[in-house]
Amino acid sequence: MEKREQIYEGKAKKVYATDDKKCYVVSYKDDATAFNGEKKGTIVGKGVVNNRMSNIMCQMLANHGIETHFIKELNERETVVKAVEIVPLEVIVRNVAAGSFSKRFGVEEGTVLQNPTIEFCLKNDALQDPMINDYQILALGIATREELDVMTEMTFKINTLLKEYFAQIGVKLIDFKIELGRYEGRIILADEISPDTCRFWDAETNKKLDKDRFRRDLGGVEEVYQEMLARITK
Ligand code: TMP
Repeated sequence: MEKREQIYEGKAKKVYATDDKKCYVVSYKDDATAFNGEKKGTIVGKGVVNNRMSNIMCQMLANHGIETHFIKELNERETVVKAVEIVPLEVIVRNVAAGSFSKRFGVEEGTVLQNPTIEFCLKNDALQDPMINDYQILALGIATREELDVMTEMTFKINTLLKEYFAQIGVKLIDFKIELGRYEGRIILADEISPDTCRFWDAETNKKLDKDRFRRDLGGVEEVYQEMLARITK
């Protein structure tokens, strides 16, 4: 398989075409942004951690019946993935109140929610990823009812599997964001699962082990990315 031209550059990843039209290569960068690109920086080694960790998580989920875009890790930063058509929605699940949920509803960070919640945001940087509900998604033809039902069920199943997995390595899964894509008529997971896209708190101390350390200038950013990878690969 041969890497060809770059077809997309996001804030944290680049995507390349390959000589096989069913495959892309994803390349993870150390670039970090927050607050819709307003805050910019570098987290040294982040691309390596996010690539490795996402691939390990995709393999774990695949073992439990969740189809993902993962095909093969090429090197530290690059992975061959299925060439999906991304559904332009960010799907957010929350187990514990934090971040924008705490702010919007005036709920203290760390409050355990009585059930996990799901939110959809439209993936559109110019509009700052506005929240969007089922009816609005259907009205705009972004996904069908059937697709939304599949996405919702898959996302909650992913939450259950991730929560159990992280609990075993002493980490609370507070919330996370995923993106899904269409591939051969099926909806599959097509995103990273990493400290960029999840909130992880140490189960004993509640120490933040994720990108909130960068967003909130808490220090020790590189260290917690390495720590998450170390816990997973131990
Ligand atoms: P929020 O509390 O800022 O809405 O974030 C919820 C979760 O989604 C958190 O784990 C971080 C993740 N997230 C992304 O991966 N990308 C984004 O653009 C945003 C806003 C959040």
